[in-house]
Formats: sequence, C-alpha cells, structure tokens
Amino acid sequence: MAELRNAEQPPNRGEAGERAERLWARAMTASIVVLIGVIVFTSAHWGLHPPSRVETIDSTSLHEGGEFSEANLGTSIAPDGSAVVRVVAQQYAFVPNCLLVPAGVPVTMRVASADVVHGFLVEDTNVNAMVVPGYVTTVRTTFPESGEHLMPCHEFCGVAHQAMWAHVRIVNAKQFPFDDAKAKAVSCAG
Ligand code: CUA
Repeated sequence: MAELRNAEQPPNRGEAGERAERLWARAMTASIVVLIGVIVFTSAHWGLHPPSRVETIDSTSLHEGGEFSEANLGTSIAPDGSAVVRVVAQQYAFVPNCLLVPAGVPVTMRVASADVVHGFLVEDTNVNAMVVPGYVTTVRTTFPESGEHLMPCHEFCGVAHQAMWAHVRIVNAKQFPFDDAKAKAVSCAG
C-alpha cells in the first residue's frame, strides 16, 4: 500500500512546494524592505515626527505655576498677532471648558494632561490629537469661520470619559477682545 501511494505522487511535487515557498519568502522580504524604506523616507525627508515634537513637561505640577498655571489658561494674543490657546486636560474636564477663538487668525493650541492620556478633537475641523501626560501637545491651525464646535475627549480616560468635553466658540475678529487677550488669557468659560 505504501508503495502504491508513493507511486501516485507526481515526482516533482516536493520541488513545486519549495519553489512556492521561495517565492513567498521573497515577496515577504520585499514588502518588509519597502515598509522600512517608507518609514526612513517619511521621517528623514518629510521630517515626520509626533505632532508635539516631543516637548516634555512635568504633568504632576501643572497647577503650581508656569505656562499651564490657571491664569494662563485660555486664549492669549502673541506679539506676532497669532492666538495661543492653552488648555489643561484632566479627569474629567478641559480647563477652560469654553474656548474663545478669533476666526481667520493663526491659532496654536497647546494642551497638557494633568493625569492620564486624553484626546481632543474640534468637530468639523482638522484638529484632532492625543494628550499624553508628560508631553505638550501642539496643534497649529486657522479656523476660517465663526461658529460653535464641540470638543470631546476621544481617548478613554476613566469612568466619566464620555462626560469630558469643552465648547470651542469661534467669533469673527471684530468680536474678539484682542486688547484683553494681549494682557491676559481669555475664555468664554463661566
Ligand atoms: Cu479624557 Cu476621555
């Protein structure tokens, strides 16, 4: 019986299997080389890095002073006329919880977490980022039109994650208190 079965097998079956294996091994090696090439190209040629460019901060002492102390939170107008919006993300709120931003003005959002990983997105815009404790998340954009947007937290951060969100109120430049915002941070949080 054993002899019969051997005789039924085509003589080149083992060779065909090896050829297929070599072919797949080459295809896999080529795809790995291509993927490594893509990583090297995007990081070296495009300067693609994490959006925050790895700016670190001590998340445990945000409230003790410095850039993210309470008086600095909200929107300030920089000497070059652009807006800087500083926000602290913490379980389970953004501070301030209503951001007042002028339309048509370059905006830099700087967000730091006081505890765990959070995320934020401004609905109907391209703003969408993670906030990792120990790092400052920086997002640059310009909001072209006035309007109200929701800014929910989109990283699960604990039992009340779904209740963590802020408003973003974009007003046209005439309605924005530029003079106040040059002296201190402003917001629409009540
Ligand atoms: Cu903060 Cu989810």
